[in-house]
Amino acid sequence: MIVAGNWKMFKTSKELKEFFRLSKEFKVPTNVRCIVAPSPTLLTLANQLSEGTSIEVFAQNCHWEEQGAFTGETSAAQILDCGSKGTLIGHSERRQYFAESNETCFKRLQAARKADLEVIFCVGEQLKDREQGKTEAVLEEQLKDIVKEFRSDSKVTLAYEPVWAIGTGVTATVEQVRDTHNWIRSYLEKNDCAWKILYGGSVKPNNFKELASLPEVFGGLVGGASLEAASFQALLDCLTDL
Ligand code: PGA
Repeated sequence: MIVAGNWKMFKTSKELKEFFRLSKEFKVPTNVRCIVAPSPTLLTLANQLSEGTSIEVFAQNCHWEEQGAFTGETSAAQILDCGSKGTLIGHSERRQYFAESNETCFKRLQAARKADLEVIFCVGEQLKDREQGKTEAVLEEQLKDIVKEFRSDSKVTLAYEPVWAIGTGVTATVEQVRDTHNWIRSYLEKNDCAWKILYGGSVKPNNFKELASLPEVFGGLVGGASLEAASFQALLDCLTDL
């Protein structure tokens, strides 16, 4: 299973060092991967500090061009150059606040995979979509192109994150997570695709065990609760014996 911490625009180098100092004591359950995704400014340092620990360091996004005049963006080659072997793509905050579309997310995925970066690709519906009964249609729109091209690519992991549950403290109910993960699984199966699916959206130590126990939930993409080492360990503890 995977516990992936999306650190968004949090942490300075001092805070990063403190996290990695404490992470030396992490007790990681067997077969669990720990990933953190810090800001681009911290990627090199995080990769250096992660050496000899059980933590992998991913980027938060990756541009579709190899290089060029794209101010504020990071290329796959630059991510690799910082020592990272993976990246998030399509996070809802990118889609919501930075006008990323299904098309740009697809292009970013193509570029990342071309450079052999592992990808955690995020999908999820907004509250209005769910209220209007459009969750599945929205997910299908977000998935259809990427499934076609990357169906047999084991270096793509999906993260289902209902947008209304991200950073809001509102977690989707276990039934909602189960039903939506089941729908995604059957959609993937119809398309001969066996990606693993993470859940994200207000995952906390007090709800993660129940969510991660669902057969279709392969772990979590976690924002707030991944920032402090103690809380990260508490998330890992939820996966013991699963
Ligand atoms: P959250 O964020 O756990 O703080 O809700 C999740 C995410 O944005 O991936």
